[in-house]
Amino acid sequence: MEARINRERLWHTLSELGLIGRSPTGGINRLSLDAQDLLARSHVHALMLEAGLSVRQDEAGNLIGRLEGDCIDAPAVITGSHIDTVTEAGKFDGALGVLAGIEVLRTVKELGVKHHCPLEVICFTDEEGVRFGIGYLGSRAMAGEWSPEWLKAKDKDGISLNEAMIQADIDPSLAERAARPAGSIRAYLELHIEQGRVLEDANLPCGLATAIYGYRWLLVKFKGHADHAGTTPMALRRDALLAAAEAVIAIEKLAIRSGGTATVGTLKLSPGAVNVIPDEVIFTIDYRHSSIQALTEMGQQMETTLESLAFRRGLTVEVSETDGATPVTCSEQLTSMLTEVCGSIGIKAMPMVCGAGHDAVAIHSLTEIGLILVRSKDGISHHREEWSSLEDCSDGADILLHSMLRVAQK
Ligand code: GLV
Ligand code: MN
Ligand code: MN
Ligand code: MN
Repeated sequence: MEARINRERLWHTLSELGLIGRSPTGGINRLSLDAQDLLARSHVHALMLEAGLSVRQDEAGNLIGRLEGDCIDAPAVITGSHIDTVTEAGKFDGALGVLAGIEVLRTVKELGVKHHCPLEVICFTDEEGVRFGIGYLGSRAMAGEWSPEWLKAKDKDGISLNEAMIQADIDPSLAERAARPAGSIRAYLELHIEQGRVLEDANLPCGLATAIYGYRWLLVKFKGHADHAGTTPMALRRDALLAAAEAVIAIEKLAIRSGGTATVGTLKLSPGAVNVIPDEVIFTIDYRHSSIQALTEMGQQMETTLESLAFRRGLTVEVSETDGATPVTCSEQLTSMLTEVCGSIGIKAMPMVCGAGHDAVAIHSLTEIGLILVRSKDGISHHREEWSSLEDCSDGADILLHSMLRVAQK
């Protein structure tokens, strides 16, 4: 009988972690390093210990559980993901990768399976980037891309990343030391829910990513003039919201034309009164594509569109790029090894491009990456209705188990 993870135990840990940060409506709110996220981090820390792993927290707050192999100096085979969430999230995004990673290492230890390379499971700090506007924060720090500038970023309550790290007992001045030397990681394999509809449409439990979309985040500010809602003729207005409304529609068209995606996810207008023309609108754009060239073109077209809308309505516009990551390709070698593993343990999986962002993108600059995806019910994610079945999650975890062992045994 092939080794398998303990399905019920994995499901139980998913259910338990899903209780931390749960709102009365059933959505999960664990914005990075907030009180609920800190609670979840200590829960995961305890789970890693219970699994018999040696646990440490690196200088960027990444929690690392490790199981030594026969050779202590060999490069590690790593899996990981995140437990911070967006607002009103589901319980699978990120959590599955961390908990399945712990389950995999626990299974290897319990069964006493021999392996040459050490195995690690990492719970990365702040993958979502919702609270401070910086995605892949912990994984980028590990990849040597930490920027001290990030510490100035503030959340919506004015708390800076610097303050949040100190509150979490992470010394911000040391964060760049989380960088790991190239060559210290043999391979990185991440398990994540698909967050889309491809696998469900194909009636398959799992997917193997060949590439992951890049993204850019923009902050846009239209500035016009506030005025009286009753006396200002329509032709004489400098209404910032009208430009923003046109921009939102134009951005949708542009994304459709380019074959990528674009989303205006936050929008704030001022002064915000029923009888006053809005003089300022600030909004964000998240746009993504699998091709770096198309991503760059989308950005150029957006800037041109925003400028011409502002000009036409007598407004000013400021556009700043606040975050981003380039598209990456997954290792062909790892992906074909994953395909073989699926065949040998009897799990059906298909190759696919992944539209969501993952810590694997950041780790790509350190080592080869592979990404295993698990079917999402109705493709829903970043929402409390996010769901993947026990069977599909466990299939994904079994692929992770066997693929980590294959790499670590060489
Ligand atoms: C992160 O979850 C992202 O893909 O936005
Ligand atoms: Mn997410
Ligand atoms: Mn995620
Ligand atoms: Mn993500």
